[in-house]
Amino acid sequence: MPRTPFLAGNWKMFKTGQQAVDFIREVVPLVAGRAGREVALAVPATALFQAAEAARGSGIAIGAQNLHWEREGAFTGEISAAMAAAAGASLAIVGHSERRQLFGDTDEWVSRKLAAALGADLLAVVCVGETLAQREAGRTLEVLSAQLRGSLAGLSATAAGKGLVMAYEPVWAIGTGKTATKEEAQETQAFIRRELSAMGLPAESIRILYGGSVKPDNAAALMAQPDIDGLLVGGASLKADSFAAIVNF
Ligand code: 13P
Repeated sequence: MPRTPFLAGNWKMFKTGQQAVDFIREVVPLVAGRAGREVALAVPATALFQAAEAARGSGIAIGAQNLHWEREGAFTGEISAAMAAAAGASLAIVGHSERRQLFGDTDEWVSRKLAAALGADLLAVVCVGETLAQREAGRTLEVLSAQLRGSLAGLSATAAGKGLVMAYEPVWAIGTGKTATKEEAQETQAFIRRELSAMGLPAESIRILYGGSVKPDNAAALMAQPDIDGLLVGGASLKADSFAAIVNF
């Protein structure tokens, strides 16, 4: 089954609602006419509504960067999948390494957030990736396997086929300017696909994105790899011209 290329920006804690609107107005004409590619921007929660309004009809999907798994409740500072969806999100990033490392997200939490996102009809972009110490210790595959099994625990093949997108983001490549080589990324992503299959999930139809220092000048080479189905872009998604260049790789 062909996998539609998926090009997504993750703005992290950058841009106000108005800045999001300005960006979207600038980027829409730059990426128009690119049929057969899915384009998305994961924006701060405070910019979701304005971004979704600005992107309406453009084909650019707007997403949240994190969610709480409960629908509502006494969880100060959190937002639910239903709230993100009501604000205009059609996807959510779940388990980004910054959440895992800085805010304590565990595989179990990620699995709950994933279920919440899918339950609210959001596409869920689930991130996995090893640290530099883990890679240097030769533990990359073991770490990824554990993250996959924990983060996707309880996920049915039907739900995965409908709403799961995976992202491989080696922690040592995020914001460092050090990209995994296309061979390293391909080899690891092929492993992730084999693991998905071993878990009984429809691996051939699940998109696996690569993230970590993606730039306009490395996007095409990464996208040429058979198991790289899209890109999750941090820093280079903050400027309309560089994000457009990546979308139009
Ligand atoms: P950079 O592209 O800034 O390395 O960030 C990658 C990332 O974390 C995307 O989610």
